[in-house]
Amino acid sequence: MATSSNPVLITGVGKRIGYALCQYFIHHGIPVIGTYRTDYGTFDKLIGADLIHCDLYQQQDLDHLIDHLIRNYRGLRGIIHNASDWVAESSGVPPQEIFSKMMQIHAGVPYQLNLALQDLLANNSKTADIIHISDYVVEKGSAKHIAYAASKAALSNMTLSFASLLAPHTKVNAIAPSLIMFNPEDDEAYRAKALNKSVMKITPGAEEVVNAVDYLLESQYMTGRILSLDGGRHIR
Ligand SMILES: NC(=O)c1ccc[n+]([C@@H]2O[C@H](COP(=O)([O-])OP(=O)(O)OC[C@H]3O[C@@H](n4cnc5c(N)ncnc54)[C@H](OP(=O)(O)O)[C@@H]3O)[C@@H](O)[C@H]2O)c1
Repeated sequence: MATSSNPVLITGVGKRIGYALCQYFIHHGIPVIGTYRTDYGTFDKLIGADLIHCDLYQQQDLDHLIDHLIRNYRGLRGIIHNASDWVAESSGVPPQEIFSKMMQIHAGVPYQLNLALQDLLANNSKTADIIHISDYVVEKGSAKHIAYAASKAALSNMTLSFASLLAPHTKVNAIAPSLIMFNPEDDEAYRAKALNKSVMKITPGAEEVVNAVDYLLESQYMTGRILSLDGGRHIR
């Protein structure tokens, strides 16, 4: 991976894929700014990263984050919109709250950060990148996570608009994963059913997303596109 003196901003680095991305950049000598909501006691392995506590459901926290970045950084190598919440319509949370949270975390936050930080991206000496981590469900919808799927569809669509707005100084792409890794609480029945939805029938792990991010950052030419990491769900 090409090195950069400007940092990559990643949202939601507290665990799993966001954490793995943060570790990957640190390992390759690329500065990282990571936002987190929960500290799981594992940040000692993210030495050198600028870790910023930020509850992205709080507009005040988002405003502080933007202010911090504009005051303290002259350029950005990229932004990876990874932070995500997965609230089901069956959760008991009132529908208007589910919809507003899903839209905020997956669409409102990336929209505001992309607009507010576009000059920092343009200041990167080489092409900068925005990567939206979307979801395979955008293609299919989801009867159990309707607002989640709609909000990820909004994020995928913004890939087109921001790619057009920010070219040629910043490429904007999305990654659309399906099952990448299980949660510890997923039981055997759920695991078997989920694995059987793809033709590859594996959980590839965070490394699969890291590799896709690496590819997008290395590309000189790909913008406004969605990279599918779904084990062939569409041909099942
Ligand atoms: N894992 C998969 O199989 C899979 C499949 C399809 C798509 N994806 C997408 O890939 C990305 C990473 O997946 P993942 O499984 O690593 O996600 P995850 O385990 O759910 O982690 C998401 C991160 O976002 C943070 N976050 C959630 N709400 C937040 C808020 N209001 N403010 C600030 N941070 C917040 C979480 O913080 P807390 O720890 O505080 O909750 C967590 O660190 C997500 O965009 C997800 O939609 C993943």
